[in-house]
Amino acid sequence: MEQRDLLFGKRILLGVTGSIAAYKAVEIMRRLKDRGAEVRVAMTRNATSFVSRLTFETLSGVPVLCEEFRRDEQTAIGHIEITDNLDLALIAPATANIIGKIAAGIADDSLTTAVMALDCPLLIAPAMNDRMYRNRVLRKNIKTLAEMGVKFVEPDCGSLACGVIGEGRLAETDRIIQDLSSLLLSKDLSGRTVLVTAGPTREPIDAVRFISNASTGKMGYALAVAAKERGADVILISGPTQLAPPQGVKMIFVVTAQDMQAAVKEHARQSSLVIMAAAVSDFAPLQSSGRKIKKESASLSLQLERTVDILRELGREKDHPFLVGFAAETDDAEENAVKKLRDKNLDMIVMNDLLRQGSGFAADTNAVTIIDRSEKKIELPTMPKSDVARIVINAAIALMQQTH
Ligand code: CTP
Repeated sequence: MEQRDLLFGKRILLGVTGSIAAYKAVEIMRRLKDRGAEVRVAMTRNATSFVSRLTFETLSGVPVLCEEFRRDEQTAIGHIEITDNLDLALIAPATANIIGKIAAGIADDSLTTAVMALDCPLLIAPAMNDRMYRNRVLRKNIKTLAEMGVKFVEPDCGSLACGVIGEGRLAETDRIIQDLSSLLLSKDLSGRTVLVTAGPTREPIDAVRFISNASTGKMGYALAVAAKERGADVILISGPTQLAPPQGVKMIFVVTAQDMQAAVKEHARQSSLVIMAAAVSDFAPLQSSGRKIKKESASLSLQLERTVDILRELGREKDHPFLVGFAAETDDAEENAVKKLRDKNLDMIVMNDLLRQGSGFAADTNAVTIIDRSEKKIELPTMPKSDVARIVINAAIALMQQTH
């Protein structure tokens, strides 16, 4: 099944203003174009001191809107025309000046006039000196615009062009593109709760030792972000990981499989969709000591018992939410994944063939096949976990619309 890029065919206005980071807008434009977006560019006069209009015109293949006099009136583009049928407008980099002008409703050049005429979401990626970024008037302007629904990509902290280290550096291109993509997604999970589990569990042997696995939680956290992007209220039940909690997601931290089961049980009922991405330990020590076991004897035997299969238990419940499981396989991957889907009474399973390149626990990429109850398969190439997550959520939404 073909997966079309979310940005394909999207009409995006890229506004570039006079910041030293203006050269980074070239990379942003290229990335958008590579993903099939139709990009039009509007530059302020100051921006053209940092990057030439010709650079953007050559790369975008269409005329750029700016203040300079055009000899070639035939190809000139107007500040209203440039805003026709847009899906989104992005200003990157945005100076304190442009933010102030937009907040005050000033339209004294092509870009600000175009912004006045927008009837699509606006995303602003500020870039400036750290003291300017903390300036109270700027903060107020950002707040005013945010209250009107304008979205901002927070700048990064790092070394600034003025030689200091602070907050104000234009956000990384990846983050800008990610925020932009999320604005373009339809919010078809709004009003619904999505429960995601992530990371490993730890089963204690004694006060300091435990049985666990190599899961980092990246896939589960990416799924939580992807569900949030679609407007869901997301509950993320996480085993121990090093990851920062995603914004706007309700976090529940657990340690053992038993804790995870209790948390899942408590929240599954209110959820429309449950995605078990956690690598739950299948076995736990039969007994664990509250103290540290000393190395007195030459050998030590551990007796293990099976943990409860959280997903299987959920699948047995009447009127259970839409259930998505993961299957990490090395042999007869597809066959085993389908078997798991049937045995655990799941609606969908995401099969991770651990022998495929770019697949696996700690990686930032994954290579998975999504299989549903009718055994329809979507085999995805190796791609970032954030993209895998979006496609998994998309596939779940499509199936939920058919069946739930
Ligand atoms: N799972 C679960 N509770 C467990 C073990 C696994 O809910 N105690 C879930 C996982 O989160 C995953 C799915 O079941 O979504 C498949 O887990 P996996 O470990 O791959 O498969 P198992 O069914 O445990 O079988 P095996 O380890 O034999 O492959």
